[in-house]
Amino acid sequence: MESRLHRRCVLILVATADFLLRGCAGSSFHKFQLIYISVSEPDQTMPKFTALGYADDQLVTRFDSNTEEGAPQVSWAKKLKEDIHEYWDRYTKVLEDSERWFENYHRIIRQYYNHSKGFHTWQMMVGSEVSPHGSNEAYWTFGYDGRDFLSLDKEADAWIAADAVAQVIERMWEADSSMIPRFKFLVEVVFIEWLQKYEAYAKEALLRKEPPVVKVTRKPNNDGMETLICRAHGFYPKEINSTWRKDGETSGQDTVHGGILPNSDGTYYNWLSIKINPKDRNHYWCHVEHIGLQKPMDVPSEEPGSHVGIIIGCILSGIFLLVAVSVGIYVHISKYVWGRICYQVAVSHSV
Ligand SMILES: *[C@@H]1O[C@H](CO)[C@@H](O)[C@H](O)[C@H]1NC(C)=O
Ligand SMILES: *[C@@H]1O[C@H](CO)[C@@H](O)[C@H](O)[C@H]1NC(C)=O
Repeated sequence: MESRLHRRCVLILVATADFLLRGCAGSSFHKFQLIYISVSEPDQTMPKFTALGYADDQLVTRFDSNTEEGAPQVSWAKKLKEDIHEYWDRYTKVLEDSERWFENYHRIIRQYYNHSKGFHTWQMMVGSEVSPHGSNEAYWTFGYDGRDFLSLDKEADAWIAADAVAQVIERMWEADSSMIPRFKFLVEVVFIEWLQKYEAYAKEALLRKEPPVVKVTRKPNNDGMETLICRAHGFYPKEINSTWRKDGETSGQDTVHGGILPNSDGTYYNWLSIKINPKDRNHYWCHVEHIGLQKPMDVPSEEPGSHVGIIIGCILSGIFLLVAVSVGIYVHISKYVWGRICYQVAVSHSV
C-alpha cells in the first residue's frame, strides 16, 4: 500500500510555487489554508473527495466523501466543535456544497482531456496569510494530475491558465461574475474569522513547549566514510537550531539539513547529517538548541551495542525508513506542492 501510495504521489509531482506551509512562530496563527483533492479512482488510501483545513501548518479539520463530516484533528478543535455547533455545521455545509462543485469540474476536465479512464487528480488550494504588518496575502490555485492548471492573479482579477483545457474552464469562470468576489470574501473575511476563533481555542497549545528527543545514528558509506544522522523529533514550537560540532567547534562542512517538518500530532521533526571519517566519529556531537530544553543538548553518536540495542535499532530504523520515505517525499516536493497535497491527504486518512 505504501509503495502504491508513493507511486501515485510521485506520479503527480510537478513543480509549482513554493509559497506554502512556511509556518510561523509564536502564540498566534497567521495562515489559513484549505486544500481540496478529488481522485477519479478512489481506494482505501484516497477517498473520492477530501478537504483539509490548516492553521499555519497544523491540520485542524478533515472532511471526506466517506464521512461527509468535518472532523476535528486536534484536541482544541474538538472542544471548539463541542462548544460552537453551528460553526461546525456551517463548515460541513460549505464543504458539502464545495464537494459537488469541485467534483463536477473534475468530471468536465477529464472529459476535455479524454481521460475517461485511469487515476487522475484534481486539486485546489485556497488560503490567506496575514503578515506581521497586517497585510493579507491570499491565493487560489488549481492543479490537475500534479500540474498547475489555473490560478487566480489577484492583482489583475484574472485567471492564469496553463493549457487549452484550462482556458475552457477559465472562460466558464470568467462568465461567472460572482466567483472572484466570493473568493475575496472567503480569504479576507471568513478565513480571518476562523483563525481568530481557532486562536482562542488553541491558546494553550500555541504556548506549550515540548523539548525534542534527539538521536544520532550512523551509516557506513561505500567509500569508507560514514554518515552521521542527527534526528530531533516531537518538539514544539517549530524553531530549533541544530548543528554538528567537532571538538566543540561548529562544523558546517558536508552537513545536509533536512529542514523542519510537521508531524501529524502538531509537533515537528528535524534532521541533519554529516559525512565523516569513521576515525573521527567520537569527535562529532549533534548540538541542539530549543526553547523546551533547559540548556542546549550535545548528543554523541550511538554505539550499536547489545542485542536489545540491535533489535530496537532495527525497529527504529524501520520506523525511520518509513519516516525517511515520507520525509524524503516531503523534502523533494517542498517545491512540488501538488504532490505534497496528495501525500498529506493519504497520511491524514491513514491516521
Ligand atoms: C479528445 O478527443 C477528441 C475526439 O477524439 C479530439 O477532438 C480532442 O482533440 C481530444 N482532446 C484532447 C485534449 O486530446
Ligand atoms: C537559534 O540561534 C539564533 C542565533 O544565534 C538565536 O537568535 C535563536 O534564539 C536560536 N533559537 C533557538 C530556538 O535556540
